[in-house]
Amino acid sequence: MCGIVGYIGYRNTLPVLLQGLERLEYRGYDSAGVACLENGKKSLFVAKEKGKLAQLTSALNGKTVSSTIGIAHTRWATHGAPSRANAHPHTDTKNRIAVVHNGIIENFAEVKEFLKTRGHRFKSETDTEVIPHLVEELNHGDLEEAFRKAIQRLNGYFAIVMISVDEPEKLFAFKRSNPLVLGVGKGENFAASDVTALLPYTRRVIYLQDNELAVLTKDHIHISTLLHQKSIRRQPTEIKWTLDEAKKGGFPHYMLKEIFEQPHVARQTLEKRIKQGKIYFDTFHQAVNKRLAKVKKVFIVSCGTAHHAGLIGRYMLEEYTRIPTEVQVSSEFRYTDPIVTRDDLVVLISQSGETADTIAAFREAKENGAMTLAIVNVVGSTIAREADFVLYTHAGPEIGVASTKAYIAQLLTLMLFAFHLGVIKKRISQTTLSDLLKELQKIPSAITEILKNEKQLDVAVKALYQKKNFLFIGRGYNFPTALEGALKLKEISYAHAHGYAGGEMKHGPIALIDHTQPVICIASESKTYGKMLSNIQEIKARDAIVLTIASKGDEQVKKLSNWIFYIPRVLEIFSTILSVVPLQLFAYKIAVRNQRDVDQPRNLAKSVTVE
Ligand code: G6P
Repeated sequence: MCGIVGYIGYRNTLPVLLQGLERLEYRGYDSAGVACLENGKKSLFVAKEKGKLAQLTSALNGKTVSSTIGIAHTRWATHGAPSRANAHPHTDTKNRIAVVHNGIIENFAEVKEFLKTRGHRFKSETDTEVIPHLVEELNHGDLEEAFRKAIQRLNGYFAIVMISVDEPEKLFAFKRSNPLVLGVGKGENFAASDVTALLPYTRRVIYLQDNELAVLTKDHIHISTLLHQKSIRRQPTEIKWTLDEAKKGGFPHYMLKEIFEQPHVARQTLEKRIKQGKIYFDTFHQAVNKRLAKVKKVFIVSCGTAHHAGLIGRYMLEEYTRIPTEVQVSSEFRYTDPIVTRDDLVVLISQSGETADTIAAFREAKENGAMTLAIVNVVGSTIAREADFVLYTHAGPEIGVASTKAYIAQLLTLMLFAFHLGVIKKRISQTTLSDLLKELQKIPSAITEILKNEKQLDVAVKALYQKKNFLFIGRGYNFPTALEGALKLKEISYAHAHGYAGGEMKHGPIALIDHTQPVICIASESKTYGKMLSNIQEIKARDAIVLTIASKGDEQVKKLSNWIFYIPRVLEIFSTILSVVPLQLFAYKIAVRNQRDVDQPRNLAKSVTVE
């Protein structure tokens, strides 16, 4: 959570920082702030505001500050409510040191008490504010040493960037668990929570590793380990994402742009992963496959939308590999005292690769000696780096808080992984595999077809957008799709929505049904189609308002529905990728009609880096 930007170079700093924050706002947006060192003056310029970045920009009102070094922050509150006082950057007593921070300092209360006894006065309720004060306390003329010593006194997981009037030609950065990437320019250098903030200036980046401290000047970056001060030489990585990929591309919202990118994402995933009729995982060599062949049980651990992908992943793995598979939300995994052994595979699914609960679950799995596989979108993220093996989802940057294209990519990757493991376990023949892969090739154009028909949802949306309660039902492979449809709607429209397995309706939820209750039913062709039809009949008999997602040409279910949205006919396993698309669009359209902030819904953040 929280976005950090740091700059040192020759440009006018303020616009660089504000542009960087704009790209990182998805990481949190309850307050924003900047701090710059003013050229020729021994003073800090600090500005911060509660609310979104726009509040800060309008408070600055085009102000110019003569400065070539600065830091900035967009916040998602953890310690202390959203307010101007709690907004970053935070400074020391004499206003000489400014710090931005992403993460949690677990022992901040104790450090704060100590600093108070040393005469430090605090202005905020944040854990962050102890950092500049502690550096001030420990500074005896060498800022790097003071920064290093201060960090050694702090427990927790965080990324920090710091500047000071005492050494105005240096930007200090540190990372433990939370992400921090350095941008390498010519006569300028950068630090940021992710690469999107750097793309306008440079494509050459260095991913700071855990417990590494960096000192950036305009011409040089020096990285060293925190404890032993061992210098690290690391070549920059070239980022291939286009700038355009990180922008809205003409759509009113990132979410809509990302929904429409799904055919491309699906095509790209298949192109990367299927070569000459075979599944190709670049990171899997012979030894990996040997270990996979011995796997006795699979655990899938993830949060939010990634958890729903995991639930579908279980159906896939059990059908195609017959390996028992357990799915858990990351935040519960550790606390169920999971029986994980060296023979097990733990699959971690995460768009960001930075979700704190998933990282914690990963560490639990690792301690138990399990083999870990990360299915992650953000290259170089914590989970991707630390897992034994990684399969990147290659969905490109996802900015909308509600995950869409990353979900599609997760499903496709899980599907291919299930087929791959099925072949290794000799549960699928090469012929079956080729047939499946051939069918799979139809998916990108099937998504395009759905998107072309998006307007067909409008009548239902117009009739339902003011409703406050929705039910979503599905069965088998599409039961998790119902959960995902409900989650999308909740996240961005703030209406209450609940997903159920169709067969469970009669065990409680059917009591909710009357002529005012909308129910969104996923009833595409499947093993359970007949049963699903009966479930729809049951709710229709009680006058529910029914919107159905069905396979093209299904006249039977049409008669039971107020509205129907058709998806192309595909195998049940592949229908999971198609049926979710109208549900994403449905949620989007309802939210827009209710004038919700689709890309940055209240109380949510794209990447949740606190447990
Ligand atoms: C947050 C986001 C969700 C996302 C979840 C898991 O809650 O708002 O959209 O599904 O985190 O994130 P991850 O990056 O691990 O997939």
